Amino acid sequence: MSAQIIDGKAIAASVRAQVAVKTLEFVARTGVTPCLTVVLVGEDPASQVYVRNKGKACSDAGILSRQIDLPATTSEAQLLSLIAELNADRSVHGILVQLPVPGHIDEARVIEAIAPEKDVDGFHPMNAGRLFTGGVSCLPCTPYGIMKMLEHEGVALKGKNAVVVGRSNIVGKPMAILLLARHATVTICHSRTADLEAVCRNADILVAAVGRAEMVRGSWIKPGAVVIDVGMNRNAEGKLCGDVAFAEAREVASKITPVPGGVGPMTIAMLIQNTLEAAERQVAARA
Ligand code: GUN
Repeated sequence: MSAQIIDGKAIAASVRAQVAVKTLEFVARTGVTPCLTVVLVGEDPASQVYVRNKGKACSDAGILSRQIDLPATTSEAQLLSLIAELNADRSVHGILVQLPVPGHIDEARVIEAIAPEKDVDGFHPMNAGRLFTGGVSCLPCTPYGIMKMLEHEGVALKGKNAVVVGRSNIVGKPMAILLLARHATVTICHSRTADLEAVCRNADILVAAVGRAEMVRGSWIKPGAVVIDVGMNRNAEGKLCGDVAFAEAREVASKITPVPGGVGPMTIAMLIQNTLEAAERQVAARA
């Protein structure tokens, strides 16, 4: 039997529609329009596309988006000084510095310069810490979007074995913590895990976020597992593909996300939700 394909585009559209309704209510109640400011340093074409899509998602939801383009030669001090200005600007509720930044700029220093309450990426160590301890924070958009998808699909997590392949600060690590908070038994593994295949085969929920084209084979998947593919790679033929060998995996899994059209659209939907929530918290804190 073939797996049900989880339609990330449709779920993201419903999240975006909900954010649009809540934004309208928020503006009517407070007179404040949520505002996201995106900073792009340099002219990386992929980053330009991502940033454009983020701006479009904001305007579709009634959220203001400002884009600040800086040349690749911008110094770290100049970028930090711009972030300080945006931190102090009460009309800006979310600040996103598109990554990667040019090599002469220290990424960690940039992330730490953003006021935690405006860090809609959820990358600041304060927000990472709050995620660990269970406090209120902006959640990193990709793992947050995956939790939304699992919830939308009615996937039970309590007591289940969840395996996360990948240990990045942006996806793997926060993903594991969110699954743990929902009472899953979580294993984090990676490209150097001994017998990765056997670990994956134990997963009721398998999240692949390693960045290696079609590394997870159908034979690695437990029959009936839910498979979430965070990968965005090109295969040998140059075709866009995930970290999971989709055609094989769909014959074994009960539910699976496609690439494209799975996790990707959820990331932007959660960014605009984070921006609205950040604006709500900032306005409430000032009242
Ligand atoms: N570059 C690629 N994805 C992202 C993201 O989610 N946030 C930021 N800031 N940069 C990125």
